[in-house]
Amino acid sequence: MSMANNKIKRVGILTSGGDCPGLNAVIRAITKSLEPEGVQVFGILEGFRGLIEKKFIVLEGMQTSGLLTVGGTILRTSRDKPHRMPLPDGTTRDMTAEAIANYHALELDCLICLGGGGTQKNAHRLMREGDLNIITVPKTIDNDVWGTDICFGFDTGMAIATEAIDRLHTTASSHHRVMVVDIMGNNSGWLALGAGIAGGADVILIPEIKYSLDIVAESLVSRMRLGKMFSIVAVAEGARSQGEADTPDEDEEDSGDSSKSKKKKKKNKKSKNAVIDHTKEPLSAILAEHIEDVTGLETRITSLGHLQRGGIPTPTDRLLSTKYGVKAATLALQGEFGVMVAKRGLDYIAVPLEEVAGKKRLVPLDHHWIQAARSVATCMGDILPYTHE
Ligand code: F6P
Repeated sequence: MSMANNKIKRVGILTSGGDCPGLNAVIRAITKSLEPEGVQVFGILEGFRGLIEKKFIVLEGMQTSGLLTVGGTILRTSRDKPHRMPLPDGTTRDMTAEAIANYHALELDCLICLGGGGTQKNAHRLMREGDLNIITVPKTIDNDVWGTDICFGFDTGMAIATEAIDRLHTTASSHHRVMVVDIMGNNSGWLALGAGIAGGADVILIPEIKYSLDIVAESLVSRMRLGKMFSIVAVAEGARSQGEADTPDEDEEDSGDSSKSKKKKKKNKKSKNAVIDHTKEPLSAILAEHIEDVTGLETRITSLGHLQRGGIPTPTDRLLSTKYGVKAATLALQGEFGVMVAKRGLDYIAVPLEEVAGKKRLVPLDHHWIQAARSVATCMGDILPYTHE
């Protein structure tokens, strides 16, 4: 979609889905880039809900000063989708028409949506149904938005999880313990894999590689035989054992609630190579119990949870967010709509939203990170790594 002339006057920005470091840096970059061009910028509050309820603020360059390093989002966020808005009575209603009407009531020439996979899908739907001028920017610590090499927020999440693993190493080695670390990532393993490798985890379990409890335990026993009396096990929240069904993917980023899909899991008994019932016990608890049984080593669990999404963005994320924001503003000024800003190699490009919507970028099984992890004898849960026994 392209505007005949480049005279855009009013642009809206919204942040949708889970918050993450770098959102404010993108808001700042867009506002600071558009203001000198005479464009008025509106911050739509609480994601798509703000568009439906006409909740917004006017953003000015002065207001966005100092935002580069601030975590979260000054616009606040929600996981609401226009086509399925929750009502107080627990039902949902399609409010797409209201969202479209308010886009026009605000006389927006373009709406820039910052969000993950669910946001890309919702933005695309809105664009299609209302013929709106939309640009999106890929955000998420999960790094699973299709079409880009990297999402902003991921580097910070990975840095936090890596630091946590570093700190857990000292307790693990001092006490001769196994430390199981729960790492976010929804149904993709980028975060656990990146932080696991960077933190030197001995076992890394990701959703893309189904694991066997026996292989995990055996790899730890092999380490003990080599005199290594402690281990770190990094577990992605979406990791699944062999034979276990994949987690259904429908709109999961919007809900962000992987427990919802976990409830759909089959019931299974805990046994060797068991198919795990995550509705009963978290995966890390089942793993920890099994590891303790097999190795006799004390095992402890740490769940990093929302710590991974909190606080200031890393320098890499500040740079990425700034570049993404500037590119989004440039595209808006050029009248290039219906696209997501993406990074491919060293280039910042525009990818058609219809190519992105509804897809997920998982870790490819031949990815060089997986190869590197295996090369340094990290157990990925499927086969025993090479040891020098
Ligand atoms: O998408 C980001 C993410 O942090 C996922 O890693 C996680 O599954 C989900 O959001 C958690 O969502 P919420 O913040 O709604 O609990």
